[in-house]
This record gives sequence, C-alpha cells and structure tokens, in this order.
Amino acid sequence: MKNILITGGAGFIGSHVVRLFVNKYPEYRIINLDALTYAGNLANLKDIEDKPNYTFVKADICDFDKMCALMQQYDIDGVIHLAAESHVDRSIKDPFTFARTNVLGTLSLLQAARQYWNGNWEGKRFYHISTDEVYGALELDKPEGEAPYGSEFFLETTKYNPHSPYSASKAGSDHFVRAYHDTYGMPTLVTNCSNNYGPYQFPEKLIPLFINNIRHGKPLPVYGKGENVRDWLYVVDHARAIDVIFHQGKTGDTYNIGGFNEWKNIDIVKVVIKTVDRLLGNPEGTSEKLITYVTDRAGHDLRYAIDSTKLKTELGWEPSLQFEEGIEKTVRWYLDNQEWMDNITSGEYEKYYEEMYSEK
Ligand code: NAD
Ligand code: DAU
Repeated sequence: MKNILITGGAGFIGSHVVRLFVNKYPEYRIINLDALTYAGNLANLKDIEDKPNYTFVKADICDFDKMCALMQQYDIDGVIHLAAESHVDRSIKDPFTFARTNVLGTLSLLQAARQYWNGNWEGKRFYHISTDEVYGALELDKPEGEAPYGSEFFLETTKYNPHSPYSASKAGSDHFVRAYHDTYGMPTLVTNCSNNYGPYQFPEKLIPLFINNIRHGKPLPVYGKGENVRDWLYVVDHARAIDVIFHQGKTGDTYNIGGFNEWKNIDIVKVVIKTVDRLLGNPEGTSEKLITYVTDRAGHDLRYAIDSTKLKTELGWEPSLQFEEGIEKTVRWYLDNQEWMDNITSGEYEKYYEEMYSEK
C-alpha cells in the first residue's frame, strides 16, 4: 500500500484530486490534510468520505511538529501539496497570511518530509502544485480577433516575475521546493497550471461568483475594462494531469499545465451570462445589464497563456474537455447545487463580499 498525503484536499482543486485518487487507487491510503480555512469545505467530499482508503485530518501545514508526527503516524510515501491561500484580491489586503501559509507552510511540510524520509528517497515523491502567475504577465500584442492574444507563452524555462503578493508567495514556495531537490536530493515535482474552473470552486473567484450573482440579479463587477486575458482549464483535467505527473513525472522537473484556451474576461463573462440565462429560461441577454465596470485590481496581470507542450510530448496528457462543454457542465452544476452555494454565501462570507465590493 502507498500512503499519500494530499494537503488542501477540502478546497476546490484538492477535492477533485482526492476524489480521483480515492476512487482510482483503492490500494492507496489517501490522507487529506486541511486546516479548513474559509476556503476549505468538507461538503466538497461528501461522496467519498466513507471510503475505506480515505482519512481526513484537520491540521495547519505551518504546525511543523504536527507535520512531523503525521508523516510518521501514516508512514507517508508521497505528498501532493495543494494547501495554500489562493485568492489574489485577498493577498492584496493581507499579504502576511499568504507568506505564512504559502512560504512557511510549504517549508514546514518539506522539512517534515525530509526528516521522516531521512535520505531514503526510494519510492518517495514530494509534488508541489503551483500556478502560472509566478511567471508574471504577458503582452496583448494581438488584442483584436481570436485567441491567442499574443505571440509569447509561458514555458517551463520562463523567468519568474511575480507581481501580486499571492504570486510572490507561490514563487517563494516553488524556490524552496527546488532548493530541497538541489540541496538534499529530495525527489520533488513542481507544476504550474493556468486558471481552473468547474464544480466546488469558492465563489469569490470569477466564474462561480458571476453565476451566483446572475442568479440573484446582483451586479457583475468586471475589473478595469474586462480586457485581461486568462487561460482556462476544466478542474478535472488538472486533477488528471496531477495523477499522470505524480506517477510518471521526472523528479526534479517542472511541467506546465494548460489547455491553450485563452479568453478575455469580458468575453468569458458574456458566455457565462448566456449560459445561465438559457438554463434559467430567461430571454437571451437578460442579465447583460448586470455587467458593472469597477476599479481595476491593483497590479492586475494583463495576460496569462501557458504552453503545455512538454507535458503532452513527454507524458501524453491532453485536456479531455472542450471549453464549451466544460462551461455548460460548470454552470449546470452550480445551478443544480444551490444549497452548496447558499451554505457558503450566507453569513460571514456575505459580509466579507459586501465590504470588498463596496471598495470597488
Ligand atoms: P482553495 O483556496 O480552493 O483551497 C485551498 C485549500 O487549502 C482549502 O481547503 C484551505 O482550507 C486549505 N488551506 C489553506 N491554508 C491552509 C493551511 N495553513 N494548512 C492546511 N490547509 C490550508 O484553492 P484552489 O483554487 O483549490 O488551489 C489549490 C492549489 O492550486 C493552490 O496551491 C493554488 O495556488 C494552486 N492553483 C490554483 C489554480 C486555480 O485556478 N484555482 C490554478 C493553478 C494553481
Ligand atoms: O492563473 C492561475 C490562478 O488563477 C490561480 O493561481 C489562483 O489561485 C486563482 O485564483 C486564479 O487567479 P485569478 O486572479 O486569475 O482568478 P480570479 O477568478 O480572481 O480572476 C479571474 C480574472 O477575472 C482576473 O483577471 C480578475 C477578473 N475578475 C475577478 C473577479 C473575482 C473580475 O473582473 N471581477 C471579479 O469580481
């Protein structure tokens, strides 16, 4: 049996990774470690919580003694590390929390693994999930017409140039992971993925936020002119990539993950509006009046675009879903799971959102 520690498994992407591993590998024991911050939600894992190969542990990755104890208690062979503070807007308001969790928390986990494995690297893996945002921002040299909106893409060799406190903290954690490989010989993997969308995403992020606001007839706050470009990947395809890389990736290496699927924010907002209106039975265009241009995000990166050719060529991974199909599934899921959404958006989070929005 392999004992795999997945951190941040109660969050958006982590819950999809836990679900995939628990269902696909009954011979593994999956330990989901999560601090259950505002973004962690055990309701994301209701369908697998009773599986015999699944264990949940509530813990903070910054608690080094606890990380050491858990490595030993569960005799961990592999770590898939997703726990993080993940929202750029929050990092602008509160950078310290991002440095603590993303940098110090990752270091605490690395050191606990290093101490437990004690130089015996055979069959061990420490896989760190990072983001395309560490590479900085690309130009929009082809703003009109169809994607791609620029001639440059992020490659695995692109120099790090983070702009937000969030991306700076992710860059810091990536450097620590590579340092543990280069200094101690730890078998590490790092992947940098583009924007994910799909079920169970916390509704402070663009797509679930806008689906929910349309449902309630609330304004859709588009930052700046809505011309920023993001590269969108269906979350289940990210989880599939993590599976392939965890098992077949070359240790010490980095892989970019993305679907060559660039969209300007305003265009994606229009697709979401169209899909929600159709599924709710509203006349086409009903919710377009909710679009509200607001003050731009500070330091807002203009364009992200991932080149994931290496992953396709070396490990044969490709996205399985076309964007049209993915967005239809996503909108349907949120409309069919209104209780999930209402449980999150009532109470504390509603207050936070109203405050955040009033500053725009
Ligand atoms: P999320 O915010 O939905 O989930 C993060 C999870 O980490 C939550 O369950 C939270 O409770 C947990 N967590 C936070 N601090 C913790 C701590 N100190 N100890 C233990 N658990 C803690 O995030 P997500 O969108 O699922 O992102 C997961 C990972 O993937 C992050 O590392 C993020 O940087 C990376 N990533 C995200 C995207 C994206 O589009 N969402 C794209 C590329 C990479
Ligand atoms: O690129 C990968 C990253 O994608 C991940 O590392 C992050 O964890 C994840 O949050 C995401 O970051 P973004 O900042 O790109 O995602 P967000 O959903 O916050 O915003 C997407 C775009 O939409 C961005 O250009 C800002 C814009 N936006 C966002 C919100 C929440 C709006 O115009 N209005 C909004 O209300």
